[in-house]
Amino acid sequence: MKRVLSGIQPSGQLTIGNYIGAMKNFVKLQEDHECFFMVVDLHAITVPQEPAMLREQSEQVAALYIAAGIDPTKAAIFLQSHVPQHAELGWLLTTLTNMGELERMTQFKDKAAGKDSVGAGLFVYPSLMAADILLYNADLVPVGDDQKQHLELTRDIAGRFNHRFGEFFHVPEPYIPEVGARIMSLDDASKKMSKSNPNPGSFITLLDDPAAIKKKISRAKTDSEALVKYDPQNKPEISNLIGIYAHVANMSIAEIEAKYEGQMYGPFKKELGEAVASMIEPLQARYHEVRKSGELYDVLHSGAERAQEVAEKTMDEVKKRMGFVLPR
Ligand code: TYM
Repeated sequence: MKRVLSGIQPSGQLTIGNYIGAMKNFVKLQEDHECFFMVVDLHAITVPQEPAMLREQSEQVAALYIAAGIDPTKAAIFLQSHVPQHAELGWLLTTLTNMGELERMTQFKDKAAGKDSVGAGLFVYPSLMAADILLYNADLVPVGDDQKQHLELTRDIAGRFNHRFGEFFHVPEPYIPEVGARIMSLDDASKKMSKSNPNPGSFITLLDDPAAIKKKISRAKTDSEALVKYDPQNKPEISNLIGIYAHVANMSIAEIEAKYEGQMYGPFKKELGEAVASMIEPLQARYHEVRKSGELYDVLHSGAERAQEVAEKTMDEVKKRMGFVLPR
């Protein structure tokens, strides 16, 4: 069975961008793959986090995994910090990564832009991400479009290790949705939808109140053509909304275009708002149930155990190949 690994940072509320770009595929892939889905708390601290918030948001992301349909009996759900081999392999792979490669990462450039002081952790973040993936020898990594460059670097690092120390790591493939790989901001379709945008009207979070979601969608920017047509080049705003629609209503782009042929944007937006809300309502109900029941701690415990079993084996082999003396 092919192995899958992915992770989401607990650095703010998850958006429908995270859901469509990544989580929805987590749910799909768990059916016929051996899956490891983690909350990447070690990545989150590459920018300052308030400890109480980090704790809350880590539990929130883990509970949202379950609420979104990841079944802990099928996939391992765990916190990155519960498996210390991530940090350990991260260090080893940092020594196989070049400064120039890290300097080219657009996520680093974006996050570092305009800052007087940038943490070293933010710079070496991609080596830790490579470790996350290679620790499990994952074949597939479900992510949104913005992680493609990190995946490319992971592939290069895997190849470099194999070349120097003998074939060991699988060279992983990204698994990216055809539509919705980059959900854009509701107020500016040239920017990725992101929870760190200061305008809350620009993003929809998975824990937003359904009434607020409908309002945000009704206010989303569109063009003045009043034509529901998927054309990301020329009609980026409406194409973004059609992409969201396709995912939340499980419809094809062609079906959506046909449904709204000859109509203005009003009915389209109204029904999109309803579709998002009706996808999110059961998810939120399950989320609150999970948080209340305390089941999360058992899930995270057994998820980390499953992950650690694989991680320990990888580390032994990596250390042996690199020339470390293994303890007795
Ligand atoms: P993060 O936490 O920023 O985002 C989690 C996942 O959501 C996707 N995503 C989006 N997809 C579509 N449209 C959007 N607007 C959007 N915003 C976010 C991201 O592409 C990602 O798949 N470095 C990673 C976390 C990570 C990881 C890993 C991922 C750490 N280790 C190992 C895979 C494998 C990150 O910052 O994702």
